[in-house]
Amino acid sequence: MNSEKQLKDHTIQQWNTTPCGSANVEPLLEPGSLEFFDAFRKIQYESTDPWMKELIPFALGKDKKVLEIGFGMGTDLLTWRLEGAEVYGIDLTPEHYRLATLNFKTHNQPAHLQIADAAHIPFPSESFDICYSHGVLHHTPDTVRCISEAYRVLKPGGQLIFSMYRTYSAFHLVAKLLVEGVCQGKLKQLGYRGLLATLEKGADGIHIKPLVKTYTIRALQRMLSDFSQVRFKVGHFKREHLSKFGWLCPKFLEKPLERWLGWYLVAYATK
Ligand SMILES: C[S@@+](CC[C@H](N)C(=O)[O-])C[C@H]1O[C@@H](n2cnc3c(N)ncnc32)[C@H](O)[C@@H]1O
Repeated sequence: MNSEKQLKDHTIQQWNTTPCGSANVEPLLEPGSLEFFDAFRKIQYESTDPWMKELIPFALGKDKKVLEIGFGMGTDLLTWRLEGAEVYGIDLTPEHYRLATLNFKTHNQPAHLQIADAAHIPFPSESFDICYSHGVLHHTPDTVRCISEAYRVLKPGGQLIFSMYRTYSAFHLVAKLLVEGVCQGKLKQLGYRGLLATLEKGADGIHIKPLVKTYTIRALQRMLSDFSQVRFKVGHFKREHLSKFGWLCPKFLEKPLERWLGWYLVAYATK
């Protein structure tokens, strides 16, 4: 059994070695340059994750204090800033802190960034209008504690918006479990935890094995019981998520099927 500390060390090792999303642009552009950050941003919002601009209400940030938990290279936090928010961010990984700081610097935008753990948010209670987190809280062993920390630092009426990997998604059930896990024998070789770890770029599920969990709406509802007006949306489905069965799904069906088969569960909750 891994301790919380070991699991968090795996997280830091994963993203210190392969910063999130960098593999998509790194061969072409100098990491840390303005062109590098802008190319990554374009790829994320226009090609790999176009659903984000639809489901994440960045425009709500105008004149608000926004905290991002797990800012990665700072792409989304910069978007909140460009929409007029005063932005704050925490992340566990030093390399992400370095890159996100450069991202804001090259764009000449202010941000308050620090290395910190979402389970101990280093801000006083009732500090923020919005707490946002994309693809982070399923990588930490103490997700419930992180959510209660987000609740604490939100002002009354403030909004928590976060996305998590979804259990009942095509990517998890078909591509990972059925095809890679069962048909290719990786479940036997790596175990469930190792197999899931390999969905992060650069992880082999043995030496580099970040914690990866998936969630259902019901599980998140329980975790958000202190909040009101809790809603969920589902984003991110591509026919490649059906692996070798992808040819059965014509491209034009990706969008209508997204809410049923999508890989990200987005939660919106009010304090
Ligand atoms: C998959 S990356 C996502 C980064 C960014 N949100 C994005 O969408 O590009 C996961 C991030 O979560 C951070 N992280 C994981 N557990 C954390 C924790 N307990 N506290 C703070 N950050 C954490 C990692 O350091 C990493 O930057």
